[in-house]
Amino acid sequence: MAGRVAALIPAAGTGARLGEPKPKAFVEVGGTTLLERSVAAAYESGVVDEIIVAVPADLVASARDLVPSARVVAGGAERSDSVRAALAVTDAQLVLVHDAARALTPPSLFVDVVAALRDGALAVVPGLPVADTLKQVDAAGWVVATPDRNPLRAVQTPQGFAADVLRGAHAESGDATDDAGLVEAAGVSVQVVTGDAMAFKVTTAFDLTLARMLA
Ligand code: CTP
Ligand code: MG
Repeated sequence: MAGRVAALIPAAGTGARLGEPKPKAFVEVGGTTLLERSVAAAYESGVVDEIIVAVPADLVASARDLVPSARVVAGGAERSDSVRAALAVTDAQLVLVHDAARALTPPSLFVDVVAALRDGALAVVPGLPVADTLKQVDAAGWVVATPDRNPLRAVQTPQGFAADVLRGAHAESGDATDDAGLVEAAGVSVQVVTGDAMAFKVTTAFDLTLARMLA
């Protein structure tokens, strides 16, 4: 699909699992916030025309100082609210949704996702094979089944969409842990491209330590 590309960067979470005093996107790795690193990766990819970040309402002004090349909006209570807030202010035909917390994502991953959209996919996610064996368990912690991990992928961001497709999926208030999940529920085929280990999400203190060692 032709058209302009907007990168929407949800950065309005508190980072409860990380447990740092600041909201997660404002935590620094090697002297640079996760927010700045994520915006820089999108910008450096060369395939993004516009960047919109969604941050906690009381940090809109500080975010404008940190990432002057991006548009800044106030996010919402849930990640999907933050994505919708960013989506509301763009008229780009193609959108990438990228977690600010995936701060070490290489610019090449943005390039790969946009290339798949240009080739005609309406929804694209980066994914990697799962290394661990997965167990399905019951509420008491007993194993119920061991699914074949071969067809499984751990998915990352940036996730790319035809903007109208993402708008439609977000309008039908569904429940999903990522944007592709909403789009799938709306019946749209989602293409998986090869992800990148560096696109891991900083979620826990361990992840932050890892990010600091890698940066
Ligand atoms: N996010 C957001 N708005 C929210 C919740 C999350 O913009 N209301 C963003 C986060 O800032 C992050 C991305 O969505 O960049 C992925 O979410 P997650 O890793 O879960 O971050 P947090 O919600 O901040 O962390 P936690 O769930 O541990 O509180
Ligand atoms: Mg969260």
